[in-house]
Amino acid sequence: MTAYPITDHTFDVVVVGAGGAGLRATLECALRGLKTACVTKVFPTRSHTVAAQGGVAASLGNMGADDWRWHMYDTVKGSDWLGDQDAIEYLCKNAPDAVYELEHFGMPFSRTEEGKIYQRAFGGMTSNYGEGIVQRTCAAADRTGHAMLHTLYGQCVKNDVNFFIEYFALDLIVEDGDVRGLMAWNLEDGTIHRFRARKVIIATGGYGRIYFSCTGAHTQTGDGNAMVLRAGLPCQDMEFVQFHPTGIYGVGTLITEGVRGEGGYLTNSEGERFMERYAPSAKDLASRDVVSRAMTIEIREGRGVGPLKDHIHLHLSHLDPKIIHERLPGIAESARIFAGVDVTKEPIPVLPTVHYNMGGIPTNYHGEALTLKDGNPDTVVHGLMAVGEAACVSVHGANRLGSNSLIDLVVFGKAAGIQAAKSIDPESRQADLPRNAGDEALARLDKLRYAKGKTPTSQMRVAMQRAMQEDAAVFRTGETLRKGRERIDAIYKSRDDIAVTDRSMIWNSDLVETLEFENLIQQAIVSIEGAVTREESRGAHAREDFPNRDDEKWMKHTLSWLDQQTGWAKLDYRPVHTYTLSNEVQYIKPKARVY
Ligand code: FUM
Repeated sequence: MTAYPITDHTFDVVVVGAGGAGLRATLECALRGLKTACVTKVFPTRSHTVAAQGGVAASLGNMGADDWRWHMYDTVKGSDWLGDQDAIEYLCKNAPDAVYELEHFGMPFSRTEEGKIYQRAFGGMTSNYGEGIVQRTCAAADRTGHAMLHTLYGQCVKNDVNFFIEYFALDLIVEDGDVRGLMAWNLEDGTIHRFRARKVIIATGGYGRIYFSCTGAHTQTGDGNAMVLRAGLPCQDMEFVQFHPTGIYGVGTLITEGVRGEGGYLTNSEGERFMERYAPSAKDLASRDVVSRAMTIEIREGRGVGPLKDHIHLHLSHLDPKIIHERLPGIAESARIFAGVDVTKEPIPVLPTVHYNMGGIPTNYHGEALTLKDGNPDTVVHGLMAVGEAACVSVHGANRLGSNSLIDLVVFGKAAGIQAAKSIDPESRQADLPRNAGDEALARLDKLRYAKGKTPTSQMRVAMQRAMQEDAAVFRTGETLRKGRERIDAIYKSRDDIAVTDRSMIWNSDLVETLEFENLIQQAIVSIEGAVTREESRGAHAREDFPNRDDEKWMKHTLSWLDQQTGWAKLDYRPVHTYTLSNEVQYIKPKARVY
């Protein structure tokens, strides 16, 4: 193997990823006096949070009565009773303060006439335990993620955070089951870095790019989840993949649910507002799983629009152009660029598109990573934490409500910082790393760098993405999933034939894409295995051969480990937390969903 000179660093905390959750965790650690580094493969303000549009949920009650308990009820119901209710209570109770904190950090929210933070309606967000629609989603026009990310980055810079920008995280350093740091590759100058840390906080986002059509950035390759799998630790609930109802047909670009929140609606080829049939009460503002399934059924039954009858129309031309200009300027631009549509005159062609991963690294509500050990499903992994889409807290359960992601980032980003500060004594001595720490990561890098096969990475990646898109779609059956599993297995096995042609270390995007593909395929394996095995329908996991939710058998989280040699997933289960944090709320019992 090539000898790679290593530059060593020591920090109290290393956060991997600089999206909303990563930056909020980094900031909290820095504010609490911890020596903190943030390692990120993209410039912080290019992280995928920048693309979040519609808003951040918090029961501020600026546009009518609201209550965090109603928010909690909606989130539990939205999760289809797979969410952990202690964590959901923590999220919803802390949401208003988290939003006011962002406001005080300087986040430029849209405003009401009286100068309060503007809030819009979003799917599944209701008043009084499902009675009516509530405006709970705090918005900065349709660029809320952009506003949030820039605000948090500014705060991090102000607080002298150590950024390692355009560093690609390779693998965790694990000693006797404890996480002690990580290895990273500096893309700019080709150097290798070893970070020793008391805590590593994974904030690397989702893995939506295992699919072909996805609203997420091409950088969304779930690098942290894959590092965790390679460290012999589990991921959780990976079979739950959310399809956003309104990706632009053909390109997948997101058109925010905020469009429907402002009064937009969907129609089929007969001009019918079909959501009235599927969800008579919530209609176009039903939760995303429901709307995505309804759209898919309309298309399947021949009522799709366009020459191929393969998509749906989203209308907003009836809205006042002033509202579009003020509150939805970004999507008007996206529709013009990517669909050639003037939204003041024509509908936008849309299709359900992969948008969010409910699954990820299992954590408690302090952000500490968990594993199943000696029969204890809530065993804390020393040294490892996770936040944001990379984590599975689990507040979103089987299906996330729109605008609950941005609030998850900041509430649990901060919670992780608080917990890190509680558990770290910065004055104490940090043990030395083992002499060979990081060798395995470098051997893996070296093997891929010099890979001499015949199949380009891009070809393997697209084969994986097609398999997932076709066989693990909005609707699934045992048959399609098993077929998908075979296809993914064959691709995993064919990796020995992978071709990397660029051997350099400086901005070698061929090698970066290959490392990302490795990360993706490992997550594809555990996602599809979880989906094959879960014989019920819950939230985003809609099995046509098992159409009902089965609480008796399946109200439990899937834990999945990956055997790196065979490429096989091993599954086990963790009970859902059916208790709350305080006696301010009672456990919300499962009920059938009525829309
Ligand atoms: O539709 C949207 O604006 C997306 C928001 C979200 O996923 O939370």
